[in-house]
Amino acid sequence: MSRKLGLTAASAVLALSLAACGGGGAGSSSSGSGGEAANPSDTTIGVSMPTKESERWIADGNNVKKQLEDKGYKVDLQYANNDIPTQQQQLDQMITKGDKLLIVAAIDGTALGSQLQAAADAGSKVISYDRLIRDSKNVDFYVSFDNYKVGVAQATALLTGLGILDKDGNPGTAKGPFNIELFAGSLDDNNAHFFFDGAMDTLKKYIDDGTLVVKSGQTKIEQVAILRWEQETAQKRMEDLLTSTYNSGDKVNGVLSPYDGLSRGIITALQNAGYGPTTDSGAQPMPIITGQDAEIASVKFIADGVQSSTIFKDTRLLAEQAVTAAVAFLKGDTPKANDTKTYDNGQKVVPSYLLPVVTVYKDDIQKELVDTGYYTADEVAKGQAS
Ligand code: BGC
Repeated sequence: MSRKLGLTAASAVLALSLAACGGGGAGSSSSGSGGEAANPSDTTIGVSMPTKESERWIADGNNVKKQLEDKGYKVDLQYANNDIPTQQQQLDQMITKGDKLLIVAAIDGTALGSQLQAAADAGSKVISYDRLIRDSKNVDFYVSFDNYKVGVAQATALLTGLGILDKDGNPGTAKGPFNIELFAGSLDDNNAHFFFDGAMDTLKKYIDDGTLVVKSGQTKIEQVAILRWEQETAQKRMEDLLTSTYNSGDKVNGVLSPYDGLSRGIITALQNAGYGPTTDSGAQPMPIITGQDAEIASVKFIADGVQSSTIFKDTRLLAEQAVTAAVAFLKGDTPKANDTKTYDNGQKVVPSYLLPVVTVYKDDIQKELVDTGYYTADEVAKGQAS
């Protein structure tokens, strides 16, 4: 209705705030109005990222910010240092300052209920970024990758690396039994459960028939989860496993790791225990180790044969989806979902846009990561982004 009024700038602002308070414009549940879209430079979007400790979130934050700014919006980008109260405060401030829409990658997916309620009360839409925010009806949209398939891809890469499957997914020549250990991400991250479920559904048959042996016996997510996805915690757990389970000559042949940072911790523990490159005469070969995110240090490990694989998730495309959804909301439209079934957050099924993922082994680095412009060949060679 407000679109029909001949608005001066001042009355546009008034109309917008009335629309926000009133809880929606005509014909849709959206609180946006056409006036906002006409003037992005008056619109600030809050972007809340979990931590700068992991490269991917830095790339995500930068990509979202740049793409929104290219469209003329103002962006308030904050990192919360993996600290839940910090993220809560940052979101509180964004809402108080009047940010018109929030894009949030949660640290603890269950800890943002009151912030999201405040956002809804202020008429601001919330896009859950990569990690689903749980237990709140005020999540308006979810952009992510197909997280169950990430887990399937990680398990498949483990099976392929061990030679149980060939690269086309057919049975390979290796028969086992192979000793493996399992790791999962942070239990408060919804994704960690999807990754682990996808992986375990894929590995189960091989564990059941004895091809794979989880020597520690630790197969439940609660036993193998790493709080806050911390590299040091993963290193410590691998060290403990080596001492408790592999101290009488048995060797680890494979490790399911859901994230490159954890994989680096696991690799350090193994290297300290005498595992090394297969080329070192006498060294115990490094197990087949999986990963996720194609972090540059891990891509170098893959190029050098230390880590076997990673799952590449193109954060540029995820940022693009978040921005597309944000712009739709700000225009008063509904963003296009490609999944409306999978992501039940405990309060509602959140309409989602899910992107596909790519498994990267050594032979794929050039095609998937260099040719696509994600890294330069020089960065891969150095193991460092420039
Ligand atoms: C993300 C992964 C990432 C992990 C640790 C997950 O929620 O989906 O890409 O490796 O968090 O940061």
